[in-house]
Amino acid sequence: MTKNTTQQDMNTISRLDLSKKLKQSNSNLLEPFLAFLAFTLASCLLVACFVYINYQTLIFHGFPWFKLSSAASSTVGVLDHESGDMCDVYDGRWVWDDNYPLYQSSDCPFIDSGFRCLQNGRPDSFYTKWRWQPKACNLPRFNGTKMLEKLRNRRIAFVGDSIGRNQWESMLCMLSSAIPNKDSVYEVNGNPITKHRGFLVFRFADYNCTVEYYRAPFLVAQGSAPRGAPKGVKMTLRLDLMDRTHRQWVDADVLVFNSGHWWSHDKTTNRGCYFQEGMEVSLEMDIATAFVKSIETLLNFVRGQVNTNKTQVYFRTYSPEHFRGGVWSNGGHCHHIKLPDFSSYPGKTEAHVEVLSHVLSKHPGVIEMMNVTPMTYTRQDGHTSLYHFGRGNETEPAGEDCSHWCLPGVPDSWNELLYARFLQRYDTVL
Ligand SMILES: *[C@@H]1O[C@H](CO)[C@@H](O)[C@H](O)[C@H]1NC(C)=O
Ligand SMILES: *[C@@H]1O[C@H](CO)[C@@H](O)[C@H](O)[C@H]1NC(C)=O
Ligand SMILES: *[C@@H]1O[C@H](CO)[C@@H](O)[C@H](O)[C@H]1NC(C)=O
Ligand SMILES: *[C@@H]1O[C@H](CO)[C@@H](O)[C@H](O)[C@H]1NC(C)=O
Repeated sequence: MTKNTTQQDMNTISRLDLSKKLKQSNSNLLEPFLAFLAFTLASCLLVACFVYINYQTLIFHGFPWFKLSSAASSTVGVLDHESGDMCDVYDGRWVWDDNYPLYQSSDCPFIDSGFRCLQNGRPDSFYTKWRWQPKACNLPRFNGTKMLEKLRNRRIAFVGDSIGRNQWESMLCMLSSAIPNKDSVYEVNGNPITKHRGFLVFRFADYNCTVEYYRAPFLVAQGSAPRGAPKGVKMTLRLDLMDRTHRQWVDADVLVFNSGHWWSHDKTTNRGCYFQEGMEVSLEMDIATAFVKSIETLLNFVRGQVNTNKTQVYFRTYSPEHFRGGVWSNGGHCHHIKLPDFSSYPGKTEAHVEVLSHVLSKHPGVIEMMNVTPMTYTRQDGHTSLYHFGRGNETEPAGEDCSHWCLPGVPDSWNELLYARFLQRYDTVL
């Protein structure tokens, strides 16, 4: 349930120093006066965006902004089937769009209460209004009906940590917004979404398709220490074995992996959890090396066990956190941030993304990396912060959550990117 989700998830503190940097570079935004200035600036930016949009519409022969048009595909793009041109959809900017959000949390029964910020008292809803606009091409407007038609008799599975769950719930809402009868969407084992289970499988009965979530924060297997392991070893991560849930998701038609937040000392060695390969437990191996090995194991598993002619396989990269003035457990906060960070991404590739890209490129075309890290880095405004539980609930942990996202919100944009790639790959392959 929410409480568990929150407690476990609030612990997902990363050792990557990205958020620290962000804190430094943006602490001035916290000042009310400067926040006002920033808002004025943002308004100007909006106007500029609209001018830019109009300009683009013009040069693209006046095609409507959201429609997939021949004009759009005559530019480079993710939507372009004919030319070999590629559009980097992760290179772009956030633009204000009054047509957003794609759904309201009050209309979607499939969101953990922990992500229902507006219903939990968040006073501003600016964070629901930003749409991701790639520089060199347009994304198709999300159409739940269309995606469900393509998913008919198929399965899509999200495998990873609680941020993966965040994204999965977003996808449930985006898809179910196309379904008038919400009762036709249900968890196959009757489990409530607020119960934190190892996995949850939602069936869309009208389409005979399922949208599934498997909790596997490390992706590889975690288990008790082997016999004769050194003292102090309570558990191990088997860097050479996939998480035990793999049998359940291996045959899915679309797989969306994520991992990262749990690769920290707090979640491993500080708890007596060390790294194991075969029968060997290493007390020395550093976390970065272990992470590389886990991704190699994933890649080899997918190459060997997943029919990638049938299954689309994605890895969604690290989702940055935005704690300021501390971490989750000692007063770190982000609740007063109402706007994205409009300064540009520092250009530094995060270690996590670098590692992934390096490993996955050893066998290109097996697992497609969705590099949402830079775009997400600027969305300091989208976290559940104080609003991860209802007001006045003494049983919930105190403290802010600056790692998970309000829904509707940032994960919807990741899913729009997924949608664009999903459609394109089904159109070209199947
Ligand atoms: C969404 O897709 C369906 C099926 O492809 C189509 O009939 C419908 O017109 C689309 N809706 C919009 C708003 O484009
Ligand atoms: C429903 O989808 C599953 C695959 O997810 C497939 O095996 C099954 O045959 C489908 N059922 C019908 C009635 O088409
Ligand atoms: C996948 O497709 C390729 C090319 O069409 C084919 O050579 C290969 O055998 C297929 N693999 C599987 C597992 O079906
Ligand atoms: C407070 O949280 C608990 C556990 O999460 C829940 O059972 C209860 O209904 C909540 N109470 C209110 C007033 O929201």
